Amino acid sequence: MVKPTLNMRPTGWFQVAWSEEVPVGGVHRMTYFGHDLIAWRGVSGRVTIMEAYCEHLGAHLGYGGTVVERDGEDAIQCPFHGWQWNAAGRNVCIPYEDRPNIGKKIRTYPVREVNESIYLWHDASGEHREPYFDVPEIFTAWDDGRSADDYHRSYPGNVLFDPAQELHPQYVLENGVDFAHFKYVHQVPIIPQFTRQDFDQPLSYVDFTVAFEGEPGSIEEIDSGVEAINVGLGFAITKSHGMVDNRTMLAVTPVDDATCDVRFSVWIGNDPSGGGEADVEAAAKAARFVIEQVEADLVIWSHQKYADPAALSRGEYPGFTALRAWAQQFYPSNEQEKS
Ligand code: FES
Ligand SMILES: [Fe+2]
Repeated sequence: MVKPTLNMRPTGWFQVAWSEEVPVGGVHRMTYFGHDLIAWRGVSGRVTIMEAYCEHLGAHLGYGGTVVERDGEDAIQCPFHGWQWNAAGRNVCIPYEDRPNIGKKIRTYPVREVNESIYLWHDASGEHREPYFDVPEIFTAWDDGRSADDYHRSYPGNVLFDPAQELHPQYVLENGVDFAHFKYVHQVPIIPQFTRQDFDQPLSYVDFTVAFEGEPGSIEEIDSGVEAINVGLGFAITKSHGMVDNRTMLAVTPVDDATCDVRFSVWIGNDPSGGGEADVEAAAKAARFVIEQVEADLVIWSHQKYADPAALSRGEYPGFTALRAWAQQFYPSNEQEKS
């Protein structure tokens, strides 16, 4: 049975790979939003995402396509008849004619590369508009003086990849306003308390007080917590305080109308005095704990059937209602009204 009932083609930024999966000269195959795509990294180091099929006779560029340089510009060469296409998707060479077919273009997508990750902009309206919000940098998004140098790298050790799950990006974001699940799914000693829920912009903000261990006491005695930024529906980034210093990114990207790929990346703060191997091991252990929390959520999400309307309790009502109202802006029918 196909479970997701929410539209699987919302607008926004979606993670489609980790950067290291696409080295210079690499051509990476993938399917997102029902489209077969390729991500390739040119000689310049820049990543291009385009439809996988050559506009000449339809070869799949991810099977034998090669990254080349054409007049100092990044290009990909088709394995079938050698036509070359640049980073804008334009045909720039037909090797057996004296000029390219300038009218021919392979559809490309806006790309961002940050947070050790590659993101694609998907436009639900189908009008290929430019992005109207940006991908935040996870280390500087909170303006707290931290940078990537303060953290261990995430990929490949401290990540989770769970492809083809029957869930929807919105389930995952609803988890951020769902205070009651923490006790049952994450075994926290005391129910967390929200200190901020701000759903005014395409980037929304949710902060809460939470502790993952200790004796149940009163929530006022807890001085640790998590701050989350929901970047549209595609992913959320978090930072922690008062516990192991970590930043995380949970990204859910629709593959087709039934399934999503789930990626979770964890950055653990490094020991400022060095610490070498022991510090790397401690970070891996801390990352494992954080990843296990998401694995516990995933068991629920991947078997959940979206409830709308949901039987919300009085305490749940404001958070869920605000999040669901905010989510509407990214779906196609509402998109069209806006444009
Ligand atoms: S199909 Fe690509 S060059 Fe012919
Ligand atoms: Fe959770």
